[in-house]
Amino acid sequence: FIGFGPNNDSKSIPFDHEQEGLNKQIVINFSHVVAENTPKGQAAERFAKLVAEKTNGKVKVEVFPNGVLYAEGEEVNALIRGEIQMIAPAYSNMTELLPEWLILDLPYIFKDDEHVEAVLNGEIGDALLSQLKKHNIKGIAFWSNGFKQMMSNRGPLKAPADFLGQRFRIMPSKALEDQFHELGVKTSAMPFNQVYRNLESGYLDGIENTISNIYSKRFYKVQKYMTISNHGYLGYSVMMNQEFWDSLPKDIQKDIEEAMDETTNWLYTESQEINNDQLNMIKITSDILIHVLSDEERESWIDFFQPLYEEYGEKYGKRWINEIQKLSN
Ligand code: LMR
Repeated sequence: FIGFGPNNDSKSIPFDHEQEGLNKQIVINFSHVVAENTPKGQAAERFAKLVAEKTNGKVKVEVFPNGVLYAEGEEVNALIRGEIQMIAPAYSNMTELLPEWLILDLPYIFKDDEHVEAVLNGEIGDALLSQLKKHNIKGIAFWSNGFKQMMSNRGPLKAPADFLGQRFRIMPSKALEDQFHELGVKTSAMPFNQVYRNLESGYLDGIENTISNIYSKRFYKVQKYMTISNHGYLGYSVMMNQEFWDSLPKDIQKDIEEAMDETTNWLYTESQEINNDQLNMIKITSDILIHVLSDEERESWIDFFQPLYEEYGEKYGKRWINEIQKLSN
C-alpha cells in the first residue's frame, strides 16, 4: 500500500498508538466515494469536528472524499485488512457479505423518511449492524442520504413498461438487479465514479440515485428525464475495523460514540434538506424533464414489484420484511 498526502506514517502503520503511548494522536482515516457537498460528505466533516472537540484533539479523523483512496468495491476489503480505519458505503454494497441486508433494497420497503429513521436508527438497525462482527467489522451506525429517483435518456418513466430494453447502472446488490430485471432492464454494476462517463458515452441509458448524488456528480447534465419515484432508499453503513476499534481506550470509544450519535441524528434531517435544496437547483439550472409519480402510478409500481416480496420473503425470511413494515405507521 503506497502512502498519499500528509500523515503517511499513520497510514502505513494503521494503529500504532498503543506502542507509542497515549500522547500520540490517534488518526482515523475515513474513506468515502461521494463529494463533500452531499449528506455523507457533510456528515463525515461534522463527525471529524465533533471527535476532535470531544477528545481535545487526541483523535483526528482524516476524511478522504470522492473515492480518491478506494472505489466502493475496494473499500470494504481495505477496511477488513486494516489499511483504513473507517468507511461508510451504501448498505447495498454489503449485501454480498450479509445477504439478509438485501431486504433493505426491496423497492418501496420504506414508506417515507420517518419510516427509514425508525428502522435504521432503531433496534432493527442495531440488529443488522451487529451482524458485521463476524467479518471483523465494527458496525457503528446507519447514515441517511435519501430516496432514489429514476433517470433515463430514452423517454419519460411513468409506468413499469417504460423501462423495457434499457441499460441501467446499479450498485452491486442482487435485490437491485432483480428489481431492474423485473422491469426488463439490463444492468451494469459499476463503481459510482464511473457512472458519469458511461452516461455521457451512451453506454448506459439510465440510473437510479438520490438527488444529492445526481446533483453533485452532474448526472442531470447527461440525462433527459427524471422521475421522482422514491422507490428505494440509499443509506450508509458506517463501520470501523474491529481490531482498531477494540484497541481504542474506553473513554475514546465513548467520545466517538457520542460524536457519532450526534452526527447521525443531525443527518436524518439535514440529508432531507440537502436533497430538497439540490432538487431545486437542478430545476433552476437545467432543462431536464421531471415527472413526479402520481399516487395511482406509485400504487401500480408497488403492485408490479409484489412478486419480489414473495421471493425474498421465502429466501431470506419474512421476519425482516414484517418487522420493517410494522414500523411504517
Ligand atoms: C452509489 O454507488 O451510487 C452510491 O453508493 C454512492 C454513495 O456512496 O452515495
